[in-house]
This record gives sequence, C-alpha cells and structure tokens, in this order.
Amino acid sequence: MRSSVLVLGIETSCDETAAAVVRAPAEGRAEALSSIVASQAADHAPFGGVVPEVAARAHVELIEPVTRRALAEAGVGLADLDAVAATAGPGLVGAVMVGLSFAKGLALASGLPLVAVNHLEGHAVSARLGADVPYPYLLLLVSGGHCQLIEALGPGRHRRLGSTVDDAAGEAFDKIAKALGLPYPGGPALEALAAEGDPARIALPRALEGREGCDFSFSGLKTAAARLAEAARSHEDRAALAAAVQAEIARQLADRSERAMRLYAAIGQARRFVVAGGVAANRAVRARLAAAAAAQGFSFTAPPLAYCTDNAAMIALAGAERLMAGCTDGLGAVARPRWPLDEAAARARPTHVVGRKGPKA
Ligand code: KG4
Ligand code: ZN
Repeated sequence: MRSSVLVLGIETSCDETAAAVVRAPAEGRAEALSSIVASQAADHAPFGGVVPEVAARAHVELIEPVTRRALAEAGVGLADLDAVAATAGPGLVGAVMVGLSFAKGLALASGLPLVAVNHLEGHAVSARLGADVPYPYLLLLVSGGHCQLIEALGPGRHRRLGSTVDDAAGEAFDKIAKALGLPYPGGPALEALAAEGDPARIALPRALEGREGCDFSFSGLKTAAARLAEAARSHEDRAALAAAVQAEIARQLADRSERAMRLYAAIGQARRFVVAGGVAANRAVRARLAAAAAAQGFSFTAPPLAYCTDNAAMIALAGAERLMAGCTDGLGAVARPRWPLDEAAARARPTHVVGRKGPKA
C-alpha cells in the first residue's frame, strides 16, 4: 500500500460548488493543500431556500474555475494526482450530476481513476482533516438533510444506531430561523441571535426525553417555535426564543448521543465520539456534545469549522480512503438522489420517508 495519496475532490450535492486537493496518509491526520468553496447562498436567498434548478445552473458556471483554483492553490497539476473523487449522492440529482460528470471528464482525459463518493461518508471522515481519529468511532452526523448516529467501522462500512424520525436538526434550525425572519441559511444567523438571548426565559417541548433508543425528532419543536416566533414582539423576545431553540436542539443531540455512547461502550468499542456536518459548526452544540462525551469517558473530536459545512476536502479524503482500500469506480458511476450510509438498516427500518427511489437516510 502507498504511504500517502494525493486526491482532487469535487462536491456539488447542494448549493456549494467546491473543489479541494488533499494529501492523505495511510493512517493519521490528512492535510488539505487547498479547499475552495463557492457558496451560492446569495442566488438562493431571495427564495428562502435552495432551488434545485438554480443550483444546477450555478454549478455548471462555477465548477471549472473553482477546480482550476483548487489545483493552483495546491500547486499541483492533474499529473501529480492519484485519483479524482466526486460526490455521487445523496443530494439534488441535477446538482450532483454536474460535479460527477465534470470529474468523469477529468478522469477520462487524464487517465486517473475515478472514485464516486457518498457525501455522508465525506462528513463521516471530515474530522480527520484536523485530527488523528482512527476507526472505529461513534459518529453523530448532523447536517441540513441528515441527523444520524453511526458506528463508523471503515471506508464503506457503517452501522446506523439511530436517525431522525422527521426533520434533520439543520432543517429545524433553518425553518425556525425563517419563522424568526432571519436570512437564509438560518443556522449561523440563529446562532448569532441566540448569543443575545436568555435560553431559560422560554420553555419549549422536550422531545424524546428519557425515551429508549437513539432516534431523534425535531418537528414538534419546529411547530412550537414557529408559533412563538409569530407572537414575539421585541428583539429581546426573538433572541430569547433563538437561545431556547438552540439550547433544546443541543440538549436533544447530547441526550441521544449519550445513549448511543452507552450502547457503544457496552459492545466494547473504543470510546471515541465524533460529530460532523453543518450543525457541528454551532458552538453551543459543540460544547454540549463535548460535555456529554466527557461524562461518558469518550474522547471528543469535531472537524475544524471550515470542514463542518459542505466542502470538497472531505470528499477528497473519503475518496483517498476508498482508493487506498482498492475501491474505484468506472465512468458508468451514477448520480444517486438517495444513498444511505447503512443501506441494510435503511431498508429494514426506514426512519425517514421512503420514496419511490428507496430510503432517504
Ligand atoms: O453539512 P451542510 O453544509 O449541508 C448538508 O449536507 O446538509 O449543513 C448545512 C446545515 C444547514 O441546515 C445550516 O443551517 C446548518 O447546517 N448550520 C448551522 C450552523 N452552520 C451551519 N446550524 C446551527 N449553527 C450553525 N452555526
Ligand atoms: Zn453535507
């Protein structure tokens, strides 16, 4: 096996066009030589959410300059690379297709292998861009589209311990932020407003408190908070509500994670806990999870802030790990709107809506 590989990663699953070059050793912390993220937030802001058609068109315009910049900042050319990795799902299929097709073109022209990466596996490995976290570890993946507790065993090997039965935590942040009149994307805006409020002033429903299992639920909180947002009269009211919402989401994430840690420790696995995904950028969430891990005797690792939200460095790293494990894909790799990390669990016990194309999460 090679001692390290150099991989170009491409990410276009939602509303960020991203490219990055990562050097990944066989073991230990990986190094991003560049990580370019062109956010389309301004294109989608007038609509209050991501518009799939707008995203796909913007990716088409941005993908080439963003990739050129990633190679230039890393100071490498295609000939220096070992592979091209691209997100192949889950995500907005028109958006995924742009990056995946572009990566196929690069692979064909350069003779490099293509690695089709699951976006969720990108989040799952992202902590290794800042720290040495060996497999196996317990992972809380908490983003705009997903909220799951996962046993990460190795590249392509994941076991789901729990998942949201309705909304993802990031979705709750975004929708409540919208009800509070905050700009899109809502999570960071809600965090800023929460800093000015007293979380103890407003009582919100506590979903699943004391309940068995490791599943999550955020829809009751979303509905209650939306009603309170309508009734909020002053800036102080709105800040108190934002603070209470943030505290309740952090509480639930920590409560379910502690349950998973106890299960995980009971089966004798190494006591390592990792959080990843956009919501891991939230400082209150990070602090609450760090305390939960400490209480259970687990180490706690969160990715550097830049690698919590969508980026291509995590895709390059997941691609590098697959490459080193001998997994590459042909040019026939397809874009998948749905692609659960633990496909067997998602089929056997779908906790999210099962659509025509199979389980979402
Ligand atoms: O991982 P990500 O960039 O995209 C998905 O794969 O979904 O996550 C985006 C989500 C959004 O819901 C966004 O509001 C949330 O992460 N987010 C945050 C923060 N930064 C991003 N939520 C709370 N606090 C933040 N600071
Ligand atoms: Zn993501």
